[in-house]
Amino acid sequence: MIFIILDGKKTAETLMNKIANDVAALSDTITLALIMVGKNPASQVYVRNKIKACNEVGIQVKEFFLDEKLPQKELMKIIADCNSDSSIHGILVQLPLPNHLDEDAIINAIDPLKDVDGLTIINQGKLMNGLDAIVPATPKGIITLLQKYFVDIAGKNAVVVGRSKLVGKPVALLLLQKNATVTIAHSKTANLRDVTKRADILVVAVGKPLFISADMVKKDAVVVDVGINKVEGKIVGDVDYVEVKEITSYITPVPKGVGPMTIASLLENILICYKKQLATQETA
Ligand SMILES: NC(=O)c1ccc[n+]([C@@H]2O[C@H](COP(=O)([O-])OP(=O)(O)OC[C@H]3O[C@@H](n4cnc5c(N)ncnc54)[C@H](OP(=O)(O)O)[C@@H]3O)[C@@H](O)[C@H]2O)c1
Repeated sequence: MIFIILDGKKTAETLMNKIANDVAALSDTITLALIMVGKNPASQVYVRNKIKACNEVGIQVKEFFLDEKLPQKELMKIIADCNSDSSIHGILVQLPLPNHLDEDAIINAIDPLKDVDGLTIINQGKLMNGLDAIVPATPKGIITLLQKYFVDIAGKNAVVVGRSKLVGKPVALLLLQKNATVTIAHSKTANLRDVTKRADILVVAVGKPLFISADMVKKDAVVVDVGINKVEGKIVGDVDYVEVKEITSYITPVPKGVGPMTIASLLENILICYKKQLATQETA
């Protein structure tokens, strides 16, 4: 069976070249405030990758690497300072936060115009209403990748497994905006296999290695694997790629699929935030 690999790495490289050119053409220096509390090992890897990508396209990063025990009040103050600092164009709080911190309150303290992760209630509400939102990077990257490969979305049965605020829900909304018929499945879904088997487009964001097996996938489906799981020192997705690929028409690999698209989309979001702030200043 012939299947096409949705090459996130290559697509992201093209996007990043464009972003680098756009950044170079600006007279302002674009700056991202990157806030990390504590030393979660997975977060440290993600943060390093984000800083590297920003550096590659000429976006500056102001790092706030903060103590694990930082009180909520102090973190809120740092965010307030970043909000009012006009030389900072985007704010990213690396999740998860330590348990003593109120994640919702902290995320929603970010100025929605600087909310590069699109996680504030304002941006999520705009997305829900089809307005001009900052869209979370992973869902945005997935849609960009599908479009790059001219995958038909309108009229297709799309099944999203996972309902997180960061991935599952927003990707379902984006697929709905593109006129797919969307089902969201989760840990309480009955007969998951029957649900996934109906999917023309299957997006999996569960966080369980090789969770989707070939018998759960419709022939010729488009499969997007968001999962990043470490198994015996190797990164694997939520989809059993080796078996599943044989029955798909298109499939994302892990790594080199959704991951690089997330990073490139985050960089796009930083640029969008900058432009939104500029437009607000001009109309003020
Ligand atoms: N590639 C990237 O750039 C990127 C970006 C973000 C995340 N990720 C990865 O994507 C995965 C998911 O991330 P996330 O932040 O969305 O995770 P999350 O917040 O933990 O959400 C996982 C979702 O999977 C559902 N789930 C768990 N067990 C299930 C089961 N047995 N059957 C059906 N659904 C089940 C959960 O359902 P309930 O809601 O019912 O609990 C939940 O909605 C992780 O591996 C993460 O590392 C990758």
